[in-house]
Amino acid sequence: MQNIEVYQKSFIEYLGDFAIEREPANLYEPVNYILKLGGKRLRPVLTLMTTDIFGGQVKDAMNAALSVEVFHNFSLIHDDIMDDAPLRRGKQTVHEKWDINTGILSGDAMLILAYQLFENYEPKTFQALAKLFSKTALEVCEGQQYDIDFETRNNVTISEYLKMIEYKTAVLIGAAMKMGAIVAEASEEDQDLIYNFGCYLGIAFQLQDDYLDAFGNPETFGKQVGGDILENKKTYLYLKTLELGSDDEKSRLIALMANTSISDAEKVERVKSIFNTSKASEATQVAVKDFTNKAFSVLEKLNISDDKKQVLKLFGEQLMNRRV
Ligand code: IPE
Ligand code: IPE
Ligand code: MG
Ligand code: MG
Ligand code: MG
Repeated sequence: MQNIEVYQKSFIEYLGDFAIEREPANLYEPVNYILKLGGKRLRPVLTLMTTDIFGGQVKDAMNAALSVEVFHNFSLIHDDIMDDAPLRRGKQTVHEKWDINTGILSGDAMLILAYQLFENYEPKTFQALAKLFSKTALEVCEGQQYDIDFETRNNVTISEYLKMIEYKTAVLIGAAMKMGAIVAEASEEDQDLIYNFGCYLGIAFQLQDDYLDAFGNPETFGKQVGGDILENKKTYLYLKTLELGSDDEKSRLIALMANTSISDAEKVERVKSIFNTSKASEATQVAVKDFTNKAFSVLEKLNISDDKKQVLKLFGEQLMNRRV
């Protein structure tokens, strides 16, 4: 086993060779741009780490890890169009730097490139990876559609919300890990367990993403702070305010979300203050912990050594405490 930074470093080296120097430039430059923009590289690290954990060769997992990261970055380009987001990883989003049509088509190309990377595997592994990938990619689309549908709905429940984030975010984290297990030829039981571990971690990850979208430090967060508030997203913070807040807090929140006469900054500040006084922000942190603990309880059933479980636990704890 290696530590997390070592997987990350070897993945970034591998990614360095992936630059696409083909025409037309307006199709491929945005692909190279978003992939080189940085980011935590969380999903590919999980793929490599999981292969290692199940006794496979880390280098054999590189193409699967790259595929997951290319898919993730495709989903970010399209997500930023859908969310009207100006900033990604501290830089201009693709549709701002180029335009919306470029973002759509470069994103489409990346989805295909992600799939194509599986051609580097033997038929049996190819089939298992492609099957998981197709299922996961469709679920991500479903989650993204729910996310958009919820913007204009006022009766979204917490359980609908949890399903939505499971699909838009968690299944890809589960799949990233399961791909690592497939490459290592782990047993089906272990493949499923590590998938469940990743999904629980992914739910915690999206809850923390919601929290940081409002309360992250604008200097370091890399995305527009308050973007979810301005887009009327039904985040955990919002839904918990409707559950825990006083009647006054609830009606102020609903009125603020519909208010078009105050500035964006003013709106974000006022909504954040209600998230705090209603204790919704505290409840979000509790939920992050709960889902991380659910992930840890899956670990107990896995057929791997205790020190390997420790590495996975450390990863989960770091994610839970992240600020970016
Ligand atoms: C952002 O993912 C999209 C979500 C699912 C919340 P990350 O927070 O992993 O983004 P990068 O790749 O590190 O920039
Ligand atoms: C993104 O959710 C999920 C996918 C990209 C599929 P968000 O919209 O919350 O992600 P960020 O906050 O823009 O990174
Ligand atoms: Mg977004
Ligand atoms: Mg979104
Ligand atoms: Mg977000």
